[in-house]
Amino acid sequence: MVEQVLCRLTDLDATGAREIVLDRDGARFPVFVVRVGAEIRGYVNSCPHARLPLNWKEDAFFDAMRSHLVCANHGARFDILTGKCLRGPCKGQSLVQFPVRVKGERIVAA
Ligand code: FES
Repeated sequence: MVEQVLCRLTDLDATGAREIVLDRDGARFPVFVVRVGAEIRGYVNSCPHARLPLNWKEDAFFDAMRSHLVCANHGARFDILTGKCLRGPCKGQSLVQFPVRVKGERIVAA
C-alpha cells in the first residue's frame, strides 16, 4: 500500500484538525486528522448517527472548549482519542478510526 501524506503537523496549529480526502486503492474517503498534544488521530468524517459529515465549517471538529469532537448536525460529542460517542443520538457508537503516524513534519496514513 502506498503511504499517503495527509498534511503537515503545522496544518493543525490553527484549529487542531484538518479535513482531507484519503485515497485508498482508488476509493476516496472524506477523513480528518486531529491533534491533542503529542497524540494524533485519524477518523472518517461520517457521524454514526446519520452518516453525515461532522463539520459545517472547514476544519471545525472541536467543541468550544476543545475537550471533545462535536458533530455540528445534532450535537453528538465524541472522545477525541477513541472516537467514542459520549453524548448525543449515537451515544455508545464510535467514529471509524484509521491509522496515522507522524513522519518528520508530516502526518501520513499508515
Ligand atoms: S448526524 Fe451527527 S449527531 Fe446527528
